[in-house]
Amino acid sequence: MTASDSPPGPRKLPLLGNTHQWTRGPCDFREQCAEQYGPVVNYELMGVDAYMLTDPDEVERVLTERNQFPKHQATNDLVLGMLGNGLITNSGKEWKQDREAIQPAFYMSAIKRYADIMVDRTEERMESWDTTTPLAMKEEMMVLTLDILTEAMFGPIDLEARGLYRIVEELLKPTKTRNQVIAMVAPDWVPLPFLQRGQNALEEINGQIYEIIDSRRNSQNDADRKELLSMLLATGMSDERIRDQMLTFIFAGHRTTALTLTYVWDLLSRNPEAEARLHAELETVLGGDLPTAEDLSDLEYTEQVVREVLRLYPPVHEVRREPVSDVVINGYTIPEGALVVLPTWVMHRDERFWDDPTLFRPKRWSNEEPNGRDRPASAYFPFGMGPRHCIGKQFALVEAQLVVATIAQEYTFERRYDDLAISPGLALQPKHTVELMPQATN
Ligand code: HEM
Repeated sequence: MTASDSPPGPRKLPLLGNTHQWTRGPCDFREQCAEQYGPVVNYELMGVDAYMLTDPDEVERVLTERNQFPKHQATNDLVLGMLGNGLITNSGKEWKQDREAIQPAFYMSAIKRYADIMVDRTEERMESWDTTTPLAMKEEMMVLTLDILTEAMFGPIDLEARGLYRIVEELLKPTKTRNQVIAMVAPDWVPLPFLQRGQNALEEINGQIYEIIDSRRNSQNDADRKELLSMLLATGMSDERIRDQMLTFIFAGHRTTALTLTYVWDLLSRNPEAEARLHAELETVLGGDLPTAEDLSDLEYTEQVVREVLRLYPPVHEVRREPVSDVVINGYTIPEGALVVLPTWVMHRDERFWDDPTLFRPKRWSNEEPNGRDRPASAYFPFGMGPRHCIGKQFALVEAQLVVATIAQEYTFERRYDDLAISPGLALQPKHTVELMPQATN
C-alpha cells in the first residue's frame, strides 16, 4: 500500500453516494463501517467525501492540532447562517481572544454561583407536574435548560413573555437529519420552507436580543453583575458581535444538556438497580434537602450516571474537521478540504475500550472498577477535546448533576414506549416523544 491509496469504504451509488444509508441510520452505518473497513473509512454524502477515523491516536491528533485541522467549513457555514460569528464558528486570533474573554464565566467558582439558579428553576418546573399526566420529557428538559442557561448567562429574562420557547424551537428545525443534508447541499436561492420559517424566527430573536442588550447598556448597576452578558458588554464588543455570542450560547448551552437529561430518565427507567443506587446516594447525602454546590463532590454516583449517559448517548455524536493540506493518516492520503469525521458515538461503544459497551453501567466510572486506566483519552470525548473543546463542559456536568439530584428525590418515571429510537441530526435526538409518567418516590 502507498500513501496515495484511498481508504476502503462501502460501495457508493451514483449521485447518492452513501447518503441513503447514512440518513436511514447514521449511528448504525458508522459503526458498521468502522467494524468492516478499519480505522480510516471513506464514504460519500450528497457528493461530499467523508473520511471517518477511529484510530484513537489519530482522533486525538486531529482534535488537538487546531491549525492543521480547523472546523469543517460547510458544517460551520450552516451554523454560521443561523448563529452568526460566535465562539463556535469563528477561528484564528478572533476566536482565541473571545475564548479568553469568555472563559472566566466558566471557572468553577462562577459555575458554583449558578448552582442555586439550576436547583430553583428545576423546582419551579416540577410545580406543574403531577402523577396523573405523562410528560413529554425532552420538551420539559428543553424548557428547563433554556431557563437555566439564559438566567445564568444573561440574568433574568422573561422567556415566556418574550415567546422565546417557540422561537427557539422554530430555529432548531433545520438541524434535523434530513433537513441538515438538504440544507447543506441546496443552493442558496432554493426557498426551503423550514429555512424560511427559521429566517422569520431568527429576525424575531434578533429583535429580542438587541432589546436585552440595549436595556443592559442603559442599566445603572450593570457593573455589579457577573454574568456572561456583563463580561461581553465590558469588552467593548459591538452589539452585533454580542448578539452572535448570545445566540451561540443560547443554542450551544441548552439543547445538549436537555438531551443528556432526557436520556438519563430513559436509562434510569430501564435500569432499576442503578436507579435504586442513585436514590440511596441521594438519601444519604441530601436526606430530603435540596442539593447545593457544596454537595457536588459527595454526589459521586449521580455524576457517574451522567458520565455514563454521555457515553451511551453523546448529544454531539460526531465532531467534524477539515485538513488545510493533504495529510497521511494510517497510510492513506486525506485530501485538503475533505470532511474528516471523528465519530464520538462509535468510539464510545467500541469494544477495544469498553467492556459490554452497550450496557448502562455507571459504576464503570468509579474507582471500584480499574478497567478505565489504560483507555486512550479519545475513547471518550462527549465534550470534544483539544483547544476547541466545549467551554460549557463543567457547567453542563454540574447542571445535570443538580437537576438529576433535585428531580430524582421526588420522582421516578414510567416509560410509555418500548425502545428509544434515535434520529441524529446535528445533535443526537430521540425520534419520538419521550413520554414518561411521573411517580412519587418514598
Ligand atoms: C451535555 C452538554 C454538552 C455537550 C455534550 C457539549 C458538546 C460540545 C462539543 C462536542 C463541542 C466541541 C465541538 C467541536 O470541537 O467541533 C462543544 C463546543 C462548545 N460548547 Fe458545548 N456541550 C454541552 C454543553 C454546553 C454548554 C452548557 C455550553 C454553554 C453554556 C456550551 C457551549 C459550547 C461552546 C460555546 C462551544 C464552542 C467552543 C469553542 O469552539 O471554543 N456547551 N460542545
